[in-house]
Amino acid sequence: MTGATGATGIGARRPRVLVGACGSANVLNLPAYLTTLAHACQAEIRVVLTASAGAFLPADALRLLVSEVAGPQDDRLAHNHVSWARWADLLLVLPATAHTLAAAAHGVADSFLTTTLLAHERPVTFFPSMNEQMLRNPAVQRNIRTVREDGHQIVLPRPALSFEAASGTYQDALSLPGPDAVARYAGKALRARAAADAAAGTDAGYDGAAAAEADAGPDGARPAPAPAVEGSA
Ligand SMILES: Cc1cc2nc3c(=O)[nH]c(=O)nc-3n(C[C@H](O)[C@H](O)[C@H](O)COP(=O)(O)O)c2cc1C
Repeated sequence: MTGATGATGIGARRPRVLVGACGSANVLNLPAYLTTLAHACQAEIRVVLTASAGAFLPADALRLLVSEVAGPQDDRLAHNHVSWARWADLLLVLPATAHTLAAAAHGVADSFLTTTLLAHERPVTFFPSMNEQMLRNPAVQRNIRTVREDGHQIVLPRPALSFEAASGTYQDALSLPGPDAVARYAGKALRARAAADAAAGTDAGYDGAAAAEADAGPDGARPAPAPAVEGSA
């Protein structure tokens, strides 16, 4: 288990990353993102799986990799959205579906993930993952704009050779940034927050220097640069 134990230094806890995973076929790649994030950012990780995500990927499989998982089969009162929202130093929605982006844009709170998003006090980063036509749909673009205007961040997918479930073939299509790029993004965000808190005379609560290990990459190799954060596709 990578997420439950371990320390970064005397008196410092590890940064806490909460990953909300939605029902995109890309959620099948989530384990690689979680292990890379945990290693590169020295982070403790929790995952919230939506009901659709849970149909692709069993919560129990993820429990082997991270400290806690809130899955769709859990008792409704098993987890508290406010305490999970407060727990997180950084909240990533990865992959983010058109549905969850729409819910976030409209303040809909119909699941553990969407209620947790509303209860989180800092900006959330969404990694949209969907077919290109869906992403270009005016309604999706409108929701992305709204989410950004509300102060959150959107990391758009980039063209890359990737497997398309609909055709069962590899295609040049819009894809999520890879695990190294996401870990590098998260490391930067965690360090920026720790530095801003220190400048303001407060304590982020975690060791910001530990997140700097994202620069080293999971196997010592230099990871891809952090993806740019943009406003439109
Ligand atoms: C095989 C399959 C693949 C899907 N892939 C995507 C996807 O990549 N992106 C997306 O926005 N929706 C996708 N969907 C639709 C979502 O699962 C659906 O909109 C669901 O309501 C999303 O719920 P959630 O946002 O709560 O996870 C897919 C559905 C199926 C059956």
